[in-house]
Amino acid sequence: MKQIDPKKIAANAIELIGDRWMLVTAGEEGHFNTMTASWGGLGELWYKPVAFVFIRPQRYTYEFAEQSERMTLSFLGEEHRKALQICGSRSGRDGDKIAAAGLTPQPMESGGVAFREATLVLECRKLYAEFLHEASFVDPATVQRSYPQHDFHKMYIMEIEKAWVRE
Ligand SMILES: Cc1cc2nc3c(=O)[nH]c(=O)nc-3n(C[C@H](O)[C@H](O)[C@H](O)COP(=O)(O)O)c2cc1C
Repeated sequence: MKQIDPKKIAANAIELIGDRWMLVTAGEEGHFNTMTASWGGLGELWYKPVAFVFIRPQRYTYEFAEQSERMTLSFLGEEHRKALQICGSRSGRDGDKIAAAGLTPQPMESGGVAFREATLVLECRKLYAEFLHEASFVDPATVQRSYPQHDFHKMYIMEIEKAWVRE
């Protein structure tokens, strides 16, 4: 893969995350987990390029996200939609969903793991992590629609340390 400046990511972040989806992966080679995510963002904060993701506490990936200093975000092409559906509907607690999805883990320089099928990989370092609080929602309809079980996401704001594209 070729390293690029995060500012040169040639995609609309809303389309990239919301429509294409991403694999959020935490842990290191031999001990990691991944899940599909379609909520999050890319931007700038605290003088750094950042990515932010939202992980519900019941996800197996959450346990790895809590223990890891870094995470990777992997973006795959449309031909891998089925793999993203598998990683977004099965839990790594219940078996090897990565093999079931036909994905190939790729260890990265940071010590994290991404996937060889990805066309864009972001290696990220956690800067800030906090649960969303019900009392802080300005719009109660958002709570009703997205948190009927009150299982509020934990938000991770991460520095994008390295961005890689497959040529
Ligand atoms: C399109 C799509 C988007 C998703 N986005 C998120 C998300 O942003 N945050 C989250 O916590 N779960 C999200 N999920 C659900 C997790 O991917 C799903 O619960 C997964 O099975 C968790 O796997 P794990 O238990 O191995 O971590 C999404 C699922 C799909 C299919």
